Formats: sequence, C-alpha cells, structure tokens
Amino acid sequence: MFAHKVGVTKEQVLEALRGVMDPELHRSIVELNMVKEIAIQDGSVRVDALLTISGCPLRETIIDSIKAKVKELPGVARVDVNLGVMTQEQRQALVGQLRPGPQKQSPLLSPTSTTRVIVVASGKGGVGKSTVTTNLAIALARRGRIAGIADADVYGFSIPHMLGVQGKPTIIDQMIIPLEREGVRVISMGFMVDENEAVIWRGPMLHKAVTTFLGEVYWGDTQELLIDLPPGTGDVSLSIAQTLPRAEMLIVTTPQ
Ligand SMILES: Nc1ncnc2c1ncn2[C@@H]1O[C@H](COP(=O)(O)OP(=O)(O)OP(=O)(O)O)[C@@H](O)[C@H]1O
Ligand SMILES: [Mg+2]
Repeated sequence: MFAHKVGVTKEQVLEALRGVMDPELHRSIVELNMVKEIAIQDGSVRVDALLTISGCPLRETIIDSIKAKVKELPGVARVDVNLGVMTQEQRQALVGQLRPGPQKQSPLLSPTSTTRVIVVASGKGGVGKSTVTTNLAIALARRGRIAGIADADVYGFSIPHMLGVQGKPTIIDQMIIPLEREGVRVISMGFMVDENEAVIWRGPMLHKAVTTFLGEVYWGDTQELLIDLPPGTGDVSLSIAQTLPRAEMLIVTTPQ
C-alpha cells in the first residue's frame, strides 16, 4: 500500500501567514487584510500580498518573512510572492481599523491610552535632555519594553543624529509611521522638513505643528513614549502640556 500524499491547503497557508508581521505596523498581515490571494499547485505556493504604499522600503523583509513562514509547512517545495499596492479605499479601511472612531485620532491623545508618556524637559539648553532621552529609550528597549521617542525639539533636531537614524517615514493616508533604530520607534519633526531648510516657527503655527505631529503618528502598542523638548518653557512645552495632560515630566539639570 502507498501512503496517500496530502498537499498543503490554502487554510494552512493562511494560518501560517498570520505569523507574518508587517514590519512597520507590527500587526499580522492577515489581520491587516494584506493577503490578496493564495494559489497552490502541487508543492508550489504563490502568495499575492498588498503593500500599504508603493516603494515600501521594507518590501524585501516582507517577502522574506512570507517565504520563511510558508516554507515551514509540510509539503511546500516552493514559494513565490507577488507584491501589489493597496487602493486608496483599502488604505483608508486599514487606517480606520488601526484608528477606530470618527476622528481617526491617535489613541495617544485619549484618556484611555495605555502608553506612558514622559516628557523630557529642562530650564536651560545643553544640559543633556536629548542624551537622556536617547539612552533611556534604548535602555527600556533592551529590557524588552516597547519604547518610542518623539523629537519635539523644533529648533535643533538632535535625536536622529544621536540614534543614527535618517530617512522619511512612511505615511499612510495621513498616518505617520515611526522609523526604528535599536528597537526604539522614533519620529522627529526633523524627518518632515528638508535638511537644509531653515525653519522659523511662530507661536500659533508651532502649536499646530506640534499637535498635528502628536496626533498623526501611529504609536500602536508603544508602552513608553519619551518626548524630547526644546530647552525652556516656551510654546512647544505649553502645547504639549495642553495636548497630553496625562504626561509625566522628567527634568534634566546640571549640578551647578
Ligand atoms: N552626563 C553627561 N556628562 C557629560 N556630558 C554630557 C552628558 N550628557 C550630555 N552631555 C553632552 O552635553 C552636550 C549637550 O547634550 P544634549 O544635546 O543631550 O543636551 P540638550 O539638553 O538636549 O541640549 P539642547 O537644549 O540643545 O537640546 C552634548 O555634547 C553631550 O554629549
Ligand atoms: Mg536636545
């Protein structure tokens, strides 16, 4: 008697794909409706998946993790991945799923948010705020916490430099996805402006920029969010205190 060879099923492939996370959104690609089609012929599996935006910098990572997960299934000899791009409607549906509620507001601004917000401030400049912010975030990440940094120092963005991260964040339908470095999610207003562009902020414009910035970034399941402030008690500090009344404050001083 011959043992009957049972091929892999679409259900099994879909189940395996639940373990593939979108590298930016940290959610399963199945849950995010990014899997469009699965086709199986003998031992060959083809997965058609949809990226949120074209030119996604992490497309190779997604392809590799899909291949790795599906290859683990018995009876799979070959895996091909085709990547397409979501339509505007699909993107809006995804943002709606990540940000339920009529305003699509960041949960960070809601009183029920589970993210602990720590604002790093000082009375004067150059005392080590950005250094403390960076090191604290990395230390938290190394202890297994999901840590993030929002660089709100609109006068001198030093976080990207200190963490060694540069580039433009992905924006999905006005939702800004933080970049990542050393396991720390990071967003800087410096990512939003041109490197050589001198920015002169005026009060009301600055308030708008800071609140928009805080409201539009997708922090997801971030546990500790550190906000690096410019020195002093200026407009940015006031805007942040108004926007995030639950925030705790860490004051950096020098022993003089
Ligand atoms: N504990 C420390 N001991 C000695 N030097 C430090 C310490 N922490 C930071 N520095 C140095 O002090 C300088 C200012 O640090 P940093 O940029 O972190 O300060 P800041 O408060 O963020 O400044 P700014 O007000 O300009 O944003 C840097 O050159 C940094 O390397
Ligand atoms: Mg600083």
